[in-house]
Amino acid sequence: MAEKIPVTVWGATGFIGGELMRVIAGHPGMEAVGAISRSSAGTAVGAAHPHLRHAYRDMTFISADQGEALDSPLAFLALPHRASAAMAKRLLGLGRRVVDLSADFRLRSAEEYLKWYGVEHPCPELLGEAVYGLPELHRGEMTGARLISGVGCNATSAICALRPLVKEGLIEEARIECRVGSSEGGAHGDEGSSHPLRSRTLRVVSPFVHRHAAELIQELGLPGEKFTMGVTAVELVRGIQCLAHVTLTRAVKEVDLWKLYRAAWSGEAFVSATPAKPAHLRIPDPRFVMGSNRVLVGFALAEDGRRAIAASALDNLMKGAAGSAVQSANIMLGLDETSGLDMMPVYPA
Ligand SMILES: NC(=O)c1ccc[n+]([C@@H]2O[C@H](COP(=O)([O-])OP(=O)(O)OC[C@H]3O[C@@H](n4cnc5c(N)ncnc54)[C@H](OP(=O)(O)O)[C@@H]3O)[C@@H](O)[C@H]2O)c1
Repeated sequence: MAEKIPVTVWGATGFIGGELMRVIAGHPGMEAVGAISRSSAGTAVGAAHPHLRHAYRDMTFISADQGEALDSPLAFLALPHRASAAMAKRLLGLGRRVVDLSADFRLRSAEEYLKWYGVEHPCPELLGEAVYGLPELHRGEMTGARLISGVGCNATSAICALRPLVKEGLIEEARIECRVGSSEGGAHGDEGSSHPLRSRTLRVVSPFVHRHAAELIQELGLPGEKFTMGVTAVELVRGIQCLAHVTLTRAVKEVDLWKLYRAAWSGEAFVSATPAKPAHLRIPDPRFVMGSNRVLVGFALAEDGRRAIAASALDNLMKGAAGSAVQSANIMLGLDETSGLDMMPVYPA
């Protein structure tokens, strides 16, 4: 059997770091040789991630210096933005390849980064070579790339729901609403992420302009004035359900819209349309993709044929982050794109 490629995970104590470690533990072509943490160097990986204790029985977190010294061609960065860009630059300088799951390399322009993230980009010179990390859109640019970004989890859900309509020029205007679980805020989130405060709320986090709208403008070419995008925190840990209320540019028939949705994602291993029947399954529910790299897409069409709800469901820690990152890394490294990602969803979860 071919030797596994040694990879490192930075920010490994966090939710995304943990999810990367989980996926890599079952990957036939990659091995996590370093789990880097500022806070926990020297403590067992299983202490932060008890569900991974068996997979990483003898492994402890290591410091950044130790991580840099390892002989590993690829680093996954699961760090907060800005800290991630600085580390990406450093590791690229050491000859490593980088898949950065933060927001630092998702946008092509430093001006857009400043506009949406409110701070100057730490290394704008790298933006030109970074590939947006959704393989379904950019797999051709990923082979041999040095730097691949992560994806916004809400952006991914909206891209998957809306792309079939965008391709046909069918969107007159859209109101995108993502209903999201608490893990989106990270393991070390703010006060609003704490269970007593967040549980049982229906908190509208950003009513009109969520940051991930920038990725829709860039990746779908959907003008910002044509849509609004909001996020509501709901009673989930993992998962996003995206419901985009769309006014269509012309009346369409339901049968044609099904064909469009199936054709738009045909041939994709991880994105698929829901069944038309039974009716309660056609608007995707994140429960059916939990723990997997899958995205379900579907829609409902009003009787007038001019108004639709385009919908998707995914697991934010997987297809919205670690799953897409490993899928991208597979392509970058010349491995089979689906390697290590064939796990079935957990149900019920
Ligand atoms: N959660 C999601 O659904 C999701 C989805 C898509 C993308 N992302 C992105 O993925 C990244 C990680 O998210 P997460 O949810 O895993 O967050 P998290 O749970 O808070 O983990 C981030 C980790 O980064 C380390 N860290 C924090 N500040 C740092 C700094 N200044 N310098 C170096 N390391 C630092 C921390 O580990 P130590 O203190 O132990 O070093 C922490 O465990 C973020 O950029 C986020 O935007 C998250």
